[in-house]
Amino acid sequence: MSRRGLLVAGAPTAFALAGCEGRQSALDPAGVQAERIADLWWLYVGVTGVIYVLVMLVILGAAARGRPGTFDPPETRPSARSERRRGLVVGAAVAVSAVVLLVLTVSEFLTGRAMAAMNRDPDPLTVRVTGRQWWWEVEYREGDPSQYLTTANEIHLPVGRVVQFELQSPDVIHSFWIPNLNGKTDLIPGRPTRATLRADREGTYWGRCAEFCGHQHANMRFVVVVESEDEFDAWLDAQRKPAAEPATEAEKRGRDVFLGTTCVMCHAIQGTGARGRIGPDLTHVASRPRIAAGTVPTTRGHLAGWVTDPHGIKPGVRMPANPLSPEELRSLLDYLESLK
Ligand code: CUA
Repeated sequence: MSRRGLLVAGAPTAFALAGCEGRQSALDPAGVQAERIADLWWLYVGVTGVIYVLVMLVILGAAARGRPGTFDPPETRPSARSERRRGLVVGAAVAVSAVVLLVLTVSEFLTGRAMAAMNRDPDPLTVRVTGRQWWWEVEYREGDPSQYLTTANEIHLPVGRVVQFELQSPDVIHSFWIPNLNGKTDLIPGRPTRATLRADREGTYWGRCAEFCGHQHANMRFVVVVESEDEFDAWLDAQRKPAAEPATEAEKRGRDVFLGTTCVMCHAIQGTGARGRIGPDLTHVASRPRIAAGTVPTTRGHLAGWVTDPHGIKPGVRMPANPLSPEELRSLLDYLESLK
């Protein structure tokens, strides 16, 4: 192959392989389910790749050989013997196609069965995820109901433990997808679904909505943190605590701003009178690395932009703009930043 040909064929392959690793890649599995899916994917790529090359070779061979025309002398036309040989070749190709399809079908069935085996785990960690337009409500239902906790757009998982996600949506269809850990599962209004997985490698991964669900579908992300059992328990304990009491005058004023404006209609902060359930629970909002379902990092500037003009960051979002005075905004930011 010429150098240019090598470049043309090699560059996409190199790009494709470079894209395999990462925090949002189905080809960099960090759990047993994703591993099975990746194995199946590579099998399909290998088999279909070989078939593609073979078909191309046959086509090129036929094109190079040419075809006898109607006016060519009779001795160049196929003899009865070569007609029979062609019949055999076609018959063999049909048989090979049938076997290949059977192998692919069986391997897909076996993958599905291996993945479903974990659904029978006797003691999974249960996490309820509700798809909202356009963010994720996450509830941990461990221990008795007083221990349940609610957070948003962030899922922590203990490494090596089977997790069962209960998935639901009140209005439109979403699809729950953590590429490094599992395939996609739809969230369907009126029909709760489940997804089971086990994360086997610590790290931080991206999850996404994988089903078009409206204006901000593309900005409906969540962070998945896979950590040791101890780190996970510490996180759970911290998240169960009510919000920190304001430590300064400014933070106290910020809390008054929060409780005295429309914020409380939609948001909850445990330990205060704010009990809204329409938007994300903000009890520990400052402990989350990103706001607006992964859209922007949790910095003071982005928080200010989000509070005063959410549509500037995420057009179509349900949250209204909040025209606050500069003093009110400063105090509110002080308070929100204290909610670790
Ligand atoms: Cu939710 Cu797309």
